[in-house]
Amino acid sequence: MSQYSDLFNLPLGEHYLNCAYMSPLLRSVEEIGISAIRMKRSPSHMTADDFFDGLEVLKSRFATLVHAPSAQSCAFIPSVSYGMANAISNVDPKRGKHCLILKGEFPSGRLALERWCEEHVQEVREVGPVEEDFMNGAMWNESVLEAITENSTMLIMSNVHWMNGILFDMVAIGERCRSTDTILIVDGTQGVGAVHMNVQSFHIDALICAGYKWLMGPYSTGMAYYGPYFHHSRPIEESWMNRTNAKAFSDLTNYGKFYSPEAGRFNVGQTSNFILAPMLSEALRQVNEWGTDLIGSHDLALCKPLCDYVKSHDPKVDLTYQSPHILGIPKPNGMGDDELDQRLTSKKISLSKRGTFLRISPHLYNDAEDIKALLTCLS
Ligand SMILES: Cc1ncc(COP(=O)(O)O)c(C=O)c1O
Repeated sequence: MSQYSDLFNLPLGEHYLNCAYMSPLLRSVEEIGISAIRMKRSPSHMTADDFFDGLEVLKSRFATLVHAPSAQSCAFIPSVSYGMANAISNVDPKRGKHCLILKGEFPSGRLALERWCEEHVQEVREVGPVEEDFMNGAMWNESVLEAITENSTMLIMSNVHWMNGILFDMVAIGERCRSTDTILIVDGTQGVGAVHMNVQSFHIDALICAGYKWLMGPYSTGMAYYGPYFHHSRPIEESWMNRTNAKAFSDLTNYGKFYSPEAGRFNVGQTSNFILAPMLSEALRQVNEWGTDLIGSHDLALCKPLCDYVKSHDPKVDLTYQSPHILGIPKPNGMGDDELDQRLTSKKISLSKRGTFLRISPHLYNDAEDIKALLTCLS
């Protein structure tokens, strides 16, 4: 058993290799959630400060994780599609002639970009290698860098590809976007919490993350960072909680004219979210305490036998840009899907199928036994 498994409540004998799908709940997060539900038994003691103070802690924990300059530059959001809409809808079309997006990017960013491009008559250009090079991280990175030009309006991409775990060189990509004046909007859902993120040194204009995977929070939560380009933007909704007078409960009809500074305008309405927000906050506390170095080195060691398995299928495969926590491995030769499913079920192995690949995504609660069980199934 992993030394971290006691922090979770996963059933004994289950091999959960699917954090990229959904993280299991930390015991500490579960406890915070239960006491948060009980709080509403008797709301008489809830003050105006209770609506805002916990959020400041949540935002500062996220700011620490992604090296944002301040908690003020971060916002609490319900989903990636929500956070993406707030960023993409505010990009000035006069900046360029076309928009870039990673091949196979998750729909939450893609659909918002398609709408923006239709409205502003700009082309959506997909970037990435040909199908056969799906696992070649060097080619993915090269194709992104080559595509960014002075005519690019914005680039929408994940820092870790959600399907195959390819890791992008955000230093080089961020620098290229900065030098060509291309707005860089990153979906950090499959990367933040597991690999290093620094919105400032990577020159990221907006970073949007779902909360229920590598941030280890509950579903229907997420966090975002919005840099200076968006600090005077128009949010997609007008929440009274995002106005500077929001704490003056007795004076709310003196309708506030000013948004809270920086990313303060992008928090979702009812942002206090008394049950889910404290849960996400506790999860981020724990993720920060572990740190991505610990998580990454643990996952890297676990995935080593799986990398050997991938290389045995294709000796030419280049795993230089493979993230430590998500690995796409080919399905075993000569084994049908039904047989594979049956083997996985009988061994209680949970993973995801993405295209012709199996997506394996371990975390600290996993140990070598989980990987061994999987390899036995595949052989
Ligand atoms: C890369 C990525 N982005 C976003 C999401 C979720 O998006 P949303 O919060 O809009 O449902 C997922 C879910 O699998 C994902 O893998």
